Amino acid sequence: MTDAGSRIEEYLVKKLPFTTDNYHTKKSRLSYLCIKAIKMKLPYAEPYKTKMVEYIKPSTVEQRKQWIKEADYNLFNLTSDKVFIDLLTDSGTGAMSDNQWAEMMRGDESYAGSQSFLKLRDTVKRITGFDYFLPTHQGRAAENVLFSVLVKEGNIVPGNSHFDTTKGHIEFRKATTCDCTIDEAFDTSVFHPFKGNVNIEKLEKTLQSHPKEKIPFVILTVTCNSAGGQPVSLQNIKEVSEVCKKYDILLYFDAARFAENAYFIKTREEKYKDFTIKEIVRKMFSYGDGMTMSAKKDGLVNMGGFIALNDEAIYKKATVFNIMFEGFITYGGLNGRDMGALAVGLDEATEFDYLETRVEQVAFLGKQLVEYGIPVQQPFGGHAIFLDANKFVPTIPRDEYRAQALAIELYIIGGIRSVEIGTILADRDPFTHKNRYPELELVRLAIPRRTYSLNHMRYIAAVLKNIYDSREEAKRGYTIVDEAPIMRHFTVKLEKL
Ligand code: F0G
Repeated sequence: MTDAGSRIEEYLVKKLPFTTDNYHTKKSRLSYLCIKAIKMKLPYAEPYKTKMVEYIKPSTVEQRKQWIKEADYNLFNLTSDKVFIDLLTDSGTGAMSDNQWAEMMRGDESYAGSQSFLKLRDTVKRITGFDYFLPTHQGRAAENVLFSVLVKEGNIVPGNSHFDTTKGHIEFRKATTCDCTIDEAFDTSVFHPFKGNVNIEKLEKTLQSHPKEKIPFVILTVTCNSAGGQPVSLQNIKEVSEVCKKYDILLYFDAARFAENAYFIKTREEKYKDFTIKEIVRKMFSYGDGMTMSAKKDGLVNMGGFIALNDEAIYKKATVFNIMFEGFITYGGLNGRDMGALAVGLDEATEFDYLETRVEQVAFLGKQLVEYGIPVQQPFGGHAIFLDANKFVPTIPRDEYRAQALAIELYIIGGIRSVEIGTILADRDPFTHKNRYPELELVRLAIPRRTYSLNHMRYIAAVLKNIYDSREEAKRGYTIVDEAPIMRHFTVKLEKL
């Protein structure tokens, strides 16, 4: 190409209406544009094709009525063959790539010093920037190991709507959490681009009003699952970090969906629109002291987790707990092949094209629901759409678990399994043993990564429209007949009222 030609191309690449990390993709779209003046903006398309399919079994409304009754109206009790579309979670339910499967074959199963461990350790260092690394079998295991070092009885751990296992591991150690999420997060109709953000004033007040020794760290969940898969802006991460530094408190990330958070930063925070996802990720983590990771989400694997951190002394203490609870420090409850697949997954998950498809598929479902007038958390979350049960079925009393009632209806009508994020999940107060009523009663439709098609999204939306159209008939919910003392939602038994 002539100098002038390459200058024009350079100019056009900059001017193109779409953004992507990948210069080559831009270029090929550009050549297309050069052939003919094309008016229509090209939509995103999945940067992968299907090599293998998994059959899913349809069933009837009558069958599902019977099955959910036999399951004590707890969706966790259903066997997967009784579910048509499984939106229970996006955790460990995604599809691995051919490259990940190839890496599985190269797995080094040595007890100590496995090559797969080294691959993963180096990838984690490159992607996160943290110096020390410990593999664990999943996210809550990482919490268990790290909190065994850091959390003591009577401590308080501020953060943005802690995930339930995080909260569980803190409360199990007779410590408490303090939710400092911004108020906008609790109104599903308010549009705020970063509803996972921390209210800096509230955080500062919390740090001011407790002795430093009582606060082992602040935990920032990116994206914030419990607030509806909502992202935290880089500006907010920076401010949280500054407050933590001011009071000499550590800052850890619960990084389960860190890549989706980075996508939102790139697409919503003007300042970072020209950064690659990998650059944004490094920047996010540069403000913290470490992270716990559930690799079952943005690690693109079916099982796995890890801790990464900068402080050698904490790392050394954590290795003892890792060996006790998880396994030797070079496998931590994982097969060598799992660690290899995770190393590849972390790289794939931090590519723009993958993330665009991922997040926009979730938004596609959200937009269809909004078109039908169905109340959902907005803006849409990165990994899930959250139905607002307080607005959807206000006719069902709160102490009859309206979000759970809606989730059960969704299963019966469409064979779709979702999960309640409301009063059942919020559990009882550890001291008063009374039901805790969270501000929001949500039903989460979590979308597994690279798994379902747009037709599945259309089907889900149509089922919900049918339920929404007859919502006024819903009057009664459910009562609890049996529950565990902690994390009751997994095993709770319910009866229809
Ligand atoms: N942190 C967050 C933000 C999570 O969403 C999860 C799990 C964990 C930690 C714990 O990780 O499952 O690997 O032990 N979330 C799943 C979900 C269960 O369905 O959202 P884990």
